[in-house]
Amino acid sequence: MATQQKSFSSNLGAIMAAVGSAVGLGNIWRFPYICGQYGGGAFLIVYLCFVFLLGAVLMMSEFVIGRRSQHRTLQAYGVVAKGKKGWNVIGVLGLITCFFILSQYLVLSGWTTSYIWDAVDGTLASLGTDAGAISDHFSSFSVSTWRPVLCLSIFAVLVLVVVLGGVQSGIESVSKLLMPLLVLLVLVLCVRSLTLPNAGRGVEYLFMPDFSRLTGQGILAALGQALFSLSVGMGAMIVYGSYIPVKDNLFSTAMWITACDTLIAVLSGLAIFPAVFSCGFDPTGGPGLVFCVLPNVFNMMGGAGVVFAAIFFILLMVAALTSAISLLETLAASCSERFNWKRLNSSMALFVLTTAAGVVFSLSLGRLSHIKIADLTLFDLVDKLNSIYLPPLTALATIIFLGWVVPDADVRDELSNHGTIKIGYYPVFRFLVRFVVPVALTVVLITGIKG
Ligand code: TRP
Repeated sequence: MATQQKSFSSNLGAIMAAVGSAVGLGNIWRFPYICGQYGGGAFLIVYLCFVFLLGAVLMMSEFVIGRRSQHRTLQAYGVVAKGKKGWNVIGVLGLITCFFILSQYLVLSGWTTSYIWDAVDGTLASLGTDAGAISDHFSSFSVSTWRPVLCLSIFAVLVLVVVLGGVQSGIESVSKLLMPLLVLLVLVLCVRSLTLPNAGRGVEYLFMPDFSRLTGQGILAALGQALFSLSVGMGAMIVYGSYIPVKDNLFSTAMWITACDTLIAVLSGLAIFPAVFSCGFDPTGGPGLVFCVLPNVFNMMGGAGVVFAAIFFILLMVAALTSAISLLETLAASCSERFNWKRLNSSMALFVLTTAAGVVFSLSLGRLSHIKIADLTLFDLVDKLNSIYLPPLTALATIIFLGWVVPDADVRDELSNHGTIKIGYYPVFRFLVRFVVPVALTVVLITGIKG
């Protein structure tokens, strides 16, 4: 196979960058509210099964495709298929998914950026503990025109700057700096939350399974969340896979990333639920949980609340930043390679396109809310595509590709670093790849499309 042109400098660097990709709004904003909506502990158990049985397997599969081919998402499939035509179409599907996820991600990251500002300049504190005023603030802000667009653009420029910095000095060094900071911030918030009066009820909600609260929809949501949170099912881990040094063990790398991502999601739950219960709020509040409920919780803490509010939204932005970097890198590196564009031009072009799409999605909440497709605003449409249709579809195609098209010997060779490390787990991996994961994904896709 081709020699490695670009790579992370070490296994730690590769793990940090991929953890940076995986840990994002999905862990801190999305996981707690979905877990809250679908019943707490019972959802957590199903989620953990999906993460380790499907998510980690998909991540290893994408790593194998990326590192084996030494190509990015648009060409990797074709190279690994050794000339069998047509497989690159999965890469195209992956990039479309990345494009939509990044555009929507920019909107939410813009909100986070704006909330840091609100926390620092005292706007959030001035809303006091009036739940109505806090949610009015959020709804009037999110449907307004200029501020969300401005914040989104500022955030997008930050992402661009890091991506232009390159694989080692941009992505890897930023991730190595920001990830430990993120863990520290989550831990500070956990300690604060767990020492509030009645915190135990939140812990109980998160860890005591009550299966009567879990529905079929909840199981579906758990799968969507597992794929989203691990950044799999869109070819992003193919690009990072191609940067993993050839001597690294792909199995342990994937396990570390999966474990760290899951740990941060659970810690975010521990930072949020005890506080929500302690202040007497409803954990099933949905997507607004972080923007409408938490400011209230912070304000109830009195003076120090402002500090914790700022810490929380900075944490959210840091998490969003390393994920958005990975999304832009996937798009830019894949197009640059496929169309022979310079890295600078390709990153700039995709930055402009995704930011423009982000602006449209942001406006579709307010000024453009009259534009509807299938009775959904553009924002809701893209949300649906990103959560239930595109990632499971790309994931399904990828796993069938690896299990049934790529020669078994090639997969073994790549996972064992050409026979130099033991892969005792291989029969189990093979069985999951060929049967369990495809069947599970098909069931979920069909249910998702019907529902
Ligand atoms: N995993 C990210 C999160 O939890 C979101 C995400 C989904 C992502 N797909 C991605 C990030 C692809 C980078 C690349 O927030």
